[in-house]
This record gives sequence, C-alpha cells and structure tokens, in this order.
Amino acid sequence: MAFRVFILTASDAGSRGEREDKSAPAAQKLLEEAGYEIAGYCMLPDEREQLAAKMREVCDNDLADLLVTTGGTGFSPRDCTPEATADVTERAVPGIPEAMRYYSLQITPRAMLSRASAGIRKGTLIVNLPGSPKAVAECLEFILPSLEHGLEILRGTAHNCART
Ligand code: MTE
Repeated sequence: MAFRVFILTASDAGSRGEREDKSAPAAQKLLEEAGYEIAGYCMLPDEREQLAAKMREVCDNDLADLLVTTGGTGFSPRDCTPEATADVTERAVPGIPEAMRYYSLQITPRAMLSRASAGIRKGTLIVNLPGSPKAVAECLEFILPSLEHGLEILRGTAHNCART
C-alpha cells in the first residue's frame, strides 16, 4: 500500500493570494513520482498556532503517514514552521534535517540558514522543507530513498535493516 503524504505550505503572501505557491507543486511532483499518494494539501499563513493545529489534525486523525511542510524555516521574523513542528512532535528526528543540510551545503552554503526540523507525532513523520521549489526538490531528492524504511517502521511493516 502506498504511503500517504499531506503537504502543508506556510506562506503569508501565498495564503493572502498575493503569491503563487510553487513549493507544494514541486513537492507533489517528486512525491508522486516516488509512489506516494497525496492525502491532502493546505496553505496557511506563517502562524505558529494555525500550523500546529493543522499538524495535530493530520497526525491525530491518521490522515497521512508523512506530513511535509514547505516554507517558513528561515530567519524572517514570521518564519515559525520549526517551532510549530516542535510544539506537536513527540519524538525528534534530527537526522533528516541534518541529512538535508549535509547534502544542500554541497549545493549552496546558504543551506546553513535552514532551521528545518523533523519529528514524529503518533504514527506520522513530519519533515520541514525549505520554501523555494529548487530547495524542495534538492532536499526531497536526497532524503526520499531513505524515508521509506522509516515509514515502514512506523507502520510496523519493516523488514530487517540492510546494512548498505
Ligand atoms: N537548501 C537547498 N537544498 N537549496 C537551497 O537553495 N536555500 C536556503 C536554505 N536551504 C536552499 C536550501 C536558504 S537561502 C534559506 S533562507 C533556508 O533554506 C530557509 O528557507 P525558507 O525560509 O524558504 O524555508
């Protein structure tokens, strides 16, 4: 059975209809190509409470196996996606943002400016992605091959770890 992914975009301008969001379509394309089923999509302003509430709704109602956020991970005073993620996650998964930054730093030193985080709430893995479609593609390209094993463990269908 395909893993279900919910895409949550944090964007003040996008949620006011002032800017077309290109980050979620970029994520959707790569996730669909990797075999994920799109369980839903939502764009919200950069409001910590609203973002956290949507994450809780998705996780607590088992609407998705994976919840990816796009945007809101930088230094702008309004950027609060990692804080909303920390508000709702029960277990942190630091290796995923570490891996994204490791890979992204080989593309641009500005990857060090990403505050992206990841964590688990109930059976759902939440991963923050940056806001630019290029950065979304770069990060997903690197982490997707390894995510599946983690999602299988969460679902309880994992086989033994291959040590390669
Ligand atoms: N990661 C990759 N792979 N490629 C990029 O171009 N841009 C960086 C960083 N991570 C980038 C990246 C920049 S410039 C910023 S400010 C941070 O992501 C945060 O982005 P956000 O505020 O759009 O979430």
